[in-house]
Amino acid sequence: MKPRYFVAGNWKLNKGAAESATFMKALSGALPAGAARDIDVVIAPPFTSLPAALGPGPKDVSLAAQDVFWEDRGAFTGEVSASMLRELGVRYCIVGHSERRLYFQETDRMVNLKTCALLRNGIRPIVCVGERSDDRRAGTMQSVVKFQLSSALFDVSIKGPDELVIAYEPVWAIGTGNVATPRQAEDMHEIIRRTLEKCFGVDIGSRVRILYGGSVNTDNIGGLVDMDNINGALIGGVSLDLDKFIRIITLISQKE
Ligand code: 13P
Repeated sequence: MKPRYFVAGNWKLNKGAAESATFMKALSGALPAGAARDIDVVIAPPFTSLPAALGPGPKDVSLAAQDVFWEDRGAFTGEVSASMLRELGVRYCIVGHSERRLYFQETDRMVNLKTCALLRNGIRPIVCVGERSDDRRAGTMQSVVKFQLSSALFDVSIKGPDELVIAYEPVWAIGTGNVATPRQAEDMHEIIRRTLEKCFGVDIGSRVRILYGGSVNTDNIGGLVDMDNINGALIGGVSLDLDKFIRIITLISQKE
């Protein structure tokens, strides 16, 4: 049996507090009946919008942060810790997004430290991995993704499959309109699945949700989530549009 589907909207650097509150309120009214009971729905607004998004949102929609620092406190100007996120009521946190790796020089080691800090504080990491177009051209995409994943999960232990989410986001597909085909995505998800089974044993590893991200839209979501190891999506641009985001949730809930 496939694990429960998971849909997350990564708003990146979009929507301030007021706009986030308006969106969450509208989401409350527009979610198809029972959808958020059958699917995990998560929104990741910018840090400063988290408190505003928390209040008016549907009770069964969870919030994610887009990043975290690995220390709990100290002289680290500008950083936000996992314990601070937990205090706000944040349940998930994206780590290792390719934009952080690219623009903020985030390394595999940092992704591992952040993953451990989140788990230590009871927040579920959404760990992003994905190759660049050069890697795919060179045929090294599988080893690149395997290395990113095993580095991120070094010394990580989980008690159940829901404590961790993986997002496969090929860099060449993000914000380009150039979505991976369901077959391309599934091939990589199978490799990720085997790595998870090796790390956590088959019982847990076979049930950790693996999301696909990169130019997901209302037309391509159906074909993607039909694949055995694609358990949902991490959605950028399209998640900013309430109607399209709802449409995606509706389409996935019809797969249940
Ligand atoms: P797009 O859906 O805009 O391609 O972004 C994907 C992404 O980066 C989600 O984290």
